[in-house]
Amino acid sequence: NFKEEEITDHTVKSNTLEELKLEIENFSGCSLKKTATNLVFADGNSKAKVMLIGEAPGEEEDKTGKPFKGQAGVLLDKMLNAIEQNRKNTYISNVIFWRPPGNRNPTEEEIKICLPFVLKHIELINPRILILAGAIATKAILKEDKGIIQLRGKWHDLSLNNSDKIKTMPIFHPAFLLRQPSRKKDAWEDLKKIKKEIELIT
Ligand code: URA
Repeated sequence: NFKEEEITDHTVKSNTLEELKLEIENFSGCSLKKTATNLVFADGNSKAKVMLIGEAPGEEEDKTGKPFKGQAGVLLDKMLNAIEQNRKNTYISNVIFWRPPGNRNPTEEEIKICLPFVLKHIELINPRILILAGAIATKAILKEDKGIIQLRGKWHDLSLNNSDKIKTMPIFHPAFLLRQPSRKKDAWEDLKKIKKEIELIT
């Protein structure tokens, strides 16, 4: 009846993306790893000025090892394309690196365990603009008590250890938009604000 201890207060040693991926691969403090097929680290361009963080891998992501490869990913790609973004000029990851069994929501503890890796990931990419897709990524990174309905579509300044303030915008998660298509017009308004900001930095 041995239960591996979940390690929430580990420090991340990596100084490069390659090291970070390896460090996560070798990390045994998150039990989701045991049921997952693959680590889902990232997709896209690591030199991009725009980074997007989603929630957790699902079935397709678990199979392919790449984020946003299922139905929600198809919609995400369309959303990005609408503002001239894609996987060549955007870097994409999640707040959870392994698929939760049966696509359940990640627990608070699992989010806490992965968070030091996620923050280091953002630091290493050092994006100018960070898009948070959905309530779970938004809560994990902005640590705001307000919900996604209030936080979406507004710019937030994110300060990390060794970077300038990162302009951060929560948006509705594409999986939520698939269930609630009437919210797509809100997402479109948010995407237009993001596009404007991207035009300012490029
Ligand atoms: N796929 C991902 O990689 N992340 C999500 O949040 C949803 C689907």
